Amino acid sequence: MRLTVTGLVVRAARRTHLTVPLTRLANPPTGQLVREISTAAAPKDESTADVAFPAQSVSSVHEVDPRKTAGGSRAGGDTPAVDPAATRFKEELKGKNEPNKIIHGHGQSGVLIQSKAYVFDQTSNLSPSILGCIDRQLYANPNHPICITRRLIESVFPAPTFKNHVEADPVVTAHDNFDVLGFPQDHPGRSRTDTYYVDSHHVLRTHTSAHQHKAFQSMVDRPETGYTICADVFRRDSIDRSHFPVFHQMEGAKLWKADYPAGKTHLRYPAHKNRQQQIEQDIRSLPRHDLEILHAPIYDNLTNPVQIQHDIQDVRLMVSHLRRSLELLVHRVFSAARAAGVEGGSSDVNDRLKVRWVEAYFPFTSPSYELEVFWQGDWLELLGCGIVKQSILSNAGLRNHIGWAWGLGIERLAMILFGIPDIRLFWSEDPRFLNQFKEGTITKYEPFSKHPSCYKDVAFWIDAAPAAATPLSTSHAGSSPPGAAAAAGGDATKASPTEVQPAAFHENDVMEIVRDVAGRLAEDVKLVDEFVHPSTGRKSLCYRINYRSLERTLTNDEVNEVHQRVLHKMADLSTIELR
Ligand code: DAH
Repeated sequence: MRLTVTGLVVRAARRTHLTVPLTRLANPPTGQLVREISTAAAPKDESTADVAFPAQSVSSVHEVDPRKTAGGSRAGGDTPAVDPAATRFKEELKGKNEPNKIIHGHGQSGVLIQSKAYVFDQTSNLSPSILGCIDRQLYANPNHPICITRRLIESVFPAPTFKNHVEADPVVTAHDNFDVLGFPQDHPGRSRTDTYYVDSHHVLRTHTSAHQHKAFQSMVDRPETGYTICADVFRRDSIDRSHFPVFHQMEGAKLWKADYPAGKTHLRYPAHKNRQQQIEQDIRSLPRHDLEILHAPIYDNLTNPVQIQHDIQDVRLMVSHLRRSLELLVHRVFSAARAAGVEGGSSDVNDRLKVRWVEAYFPFTSPSYELEVFWQGDWLELLGCGIVKQSILSNAGLRNHIGWAWGLGIERLAMILFGIPDIRLFWSEDPRFLNQFKEGTITKYEPFSKHPSCYKDVAFWIDAAPAAATPLSTSHAGSSPPGAAAAAGGDATKASPTEVQPAAFHENDVMEIVRDVAGRLAEDVKLVDEFVHPSTGRKSLCYRINYRSLERTLTNDEVNEVHQRVLHKMADLSTIELR
């Protein structure tokens, strides 16, 4: 199962080996040792120490040959025109103007997304069902729970300090999704089993952080010092009530600039001090809240270091501003849920809400944290955040800026706020669902019906254990620290992104077929049985598909017909043999 704070992972995931020790076992790259800069001396230009971060610097990824590596480092732009036939096909796709549909012709296939044409190559793995979810823009419908939640969060980060964006185009370069943020080449999130590749250079974004670099670049000449971004994000994943291959994220950042006068070194210290005073003033102007807070240390030299370029006092202040801002977010959102009568597990509405800060790891922040809230008797991970890597700001042209960033999954929050029990409901077009919600208000969801479910099993043989064809580093000794998967999705046992057609079975391939054939009729898919045949050594797996419509009762014939189509498609998988 994917481990992420912004996707929808049940709390139990935290107890798995990948999450609990993620930061403690982190293997910080050399050069990431903490250097506390005395506040008595002005720090260097924040950009000057970038060389200390070879593992994170953007220049390091340019050495990768993008022709060899899916998710390689082409820095933006359209799909490179490989041959004239592909260029002609692109024109044809534009002329046809059938957005989000796979079009075949002249031995090629491709798709038009947001008016841009992409010709598929050996890395592409888009399915019709995922393309069907593009352009729904749930975040833009003011009466939809996703949009209501988005607006509530935006109200904590208002103009004129923050610019509140949405990003309609889901296609980003692999460079922006991974490389520019410091994701190592072997990061499991880059795998084709986890990420939807439009072609070898473009993906359907797996997180809103894919827009961070460009958002920072655009801040060079903008008056705002912060932003929020809301968008739909895409991850190939398991099927259950809290996972859908498309969900929504929000991301925020806030920066402070020092006006270092060019060439006048003796004026650097006052400029630095001014910036500190600005942060202090901004902290003072944040509204108060009454949450009960369990704090984690601001940094840990080994596991959660202050970046070498940073002044420790600057970091203390920024973290204090970051934490206060996000506590305010929790306060606003959860008070609204309580006011709407959504039960938080405490019998007394006047009980103070409890939150706790936990050390975390993200490739693009240091130090990093997660914020958890105590809700319905358990600690629930809500968001990830931290101090932005200075190399990322410098690469965006913001050399004298420092700041924080955070990211969260909207569905997880909206499910709590509105008491929505199944993630598929967000995609429902049934008026009995949609008419329950109104702009600007949190209302408790009233189930309009509960239709019976019906399960069918599918059993098959596979050649090897259901792991990757080319397992990624199992030892974590490589460049991906444990827990790195948490940031953009990915599971460390999966196939490498360079693999064109994974030679071994992968569970997400089953999930994708079920999604494609059954759509939202599939409530969950679970592995219910596995054994190894004593004489052949082959492994048998049995998955149980639970079919249930949220809107009507399915007939037996209908379910049988859908299931037959699932079996039919699975029979085409070269990595399995149906039993
Ligand atoms: N992109 C991360 C994810 O998908 C969330 C995140 C964490 C975003 C920390 C941030 C951040 O901007 O600073 O899980």
